[in-house]
Amino acid sequence: MPEAFRRAFVCGYPVAHSRSPLIHNHWLRSYEITGSYDRREVAPDQFAAFIEDIRREGVAGGNVTIPHKETAFSLLEQKDEAAEIIGAANTLWFEDGQLCGSNTDGYGFAANLDERAPGWAEAKTATVLGAGGAARAIIYALQTRGFTDIRIVNRTVSRAKELCHHFRGGTTSHPWEAVPELLFDSGVLVNTTSLGMDGSTSYDLDLGRLPDSAVVTDIVYVPLETPILKSAAERGLRTVDGLGMLLHQAVPGFERWFGRRPEVSAELRDMIIADMET
Ligand code: ATR
Repeated sequence: MPEAFRRAFVCGYPVAHSRSPLIHNHWLRSYEITGSYDRREVAPDQFAAFIEDIRREGVAGGNVTIPHKETAFSLLEQKDEAAEIIGAANTLWFEDGQLCGSNTDGYGFAANLDERAPGWAEAKTATVLGAGGAARAIIYALQTRGFTDIRIVNRTVSRAKELCHHFRGGTTSHPWEAVPELLFDSGVLVNTTSLGMDGSTSYDLDLGRLPDSAVVTDIVYVPLETPILKSAAERGLRTVDGLGMLLHQAVPGFERWFGRRPEVSAELRDMIIADMET
């Protein structure tokens, strides 16, 4: 019997910039799976109706991106621990007609570091720059990997405080000026802010006090070498760009919708980099 044709999507507003179709269509081709993965541009006030449409149409599921991650979360009928703790969903599927969701951003973050900086999670102290939605996923990942001292630094310190409250133990909030003194025993430094993205405002961060064994990573991947990664590389520290997080966060969704765990290969990475350069 021929395999059933399965459909999935990425939904955002706007969504044209999303590279998820490139990733999933590469895997569909590589594994010769009969299925499709498309972009769906849906305005915020249409999102709930969109979910009802795809439920009726028998769509396998999909990814949601800005600005729908929190709304998607609020519509879930079943959720996993990651979605529950992060408070936002980026991966949806249906089970017995029920809308289920996960948040795979934290998984993608940790899997990227596992691949490119083995041993990174042996450090139990990390500094996280930023306190937005992205920071939530990173803090969740750090906690699940055993980090017990997570310093959250944010321009608006009250947002960092809110995150500490949300995650309860193991996190502290700090103003930007505190960064130099937080670094001397941080095994991991993560930028989750949009600073440095696409050549936007850079920042002056003295990484001199990070331990030599530290790993510095950025969730921004356009450009691949962000200002913070550049300074870290100049200091001889291990650096990990954010592209791998994008690639790895796509793995659990693909496996769920299309029944095969895909590989994050060098070929896939090169394909996305080539697309970024066009
Ligand atoms: P996301 O969901 O991608 O994390 P967000 O919730 O808008 O997006 O959060 C963006 C983060 O980048 C915040 O931590 C923000 O700091 P504030 O909470 O003080 O706004 C940070 N950020 C953005 N632009 C910044 C800038 N110019 N200087 C310092 N921090 C900045």
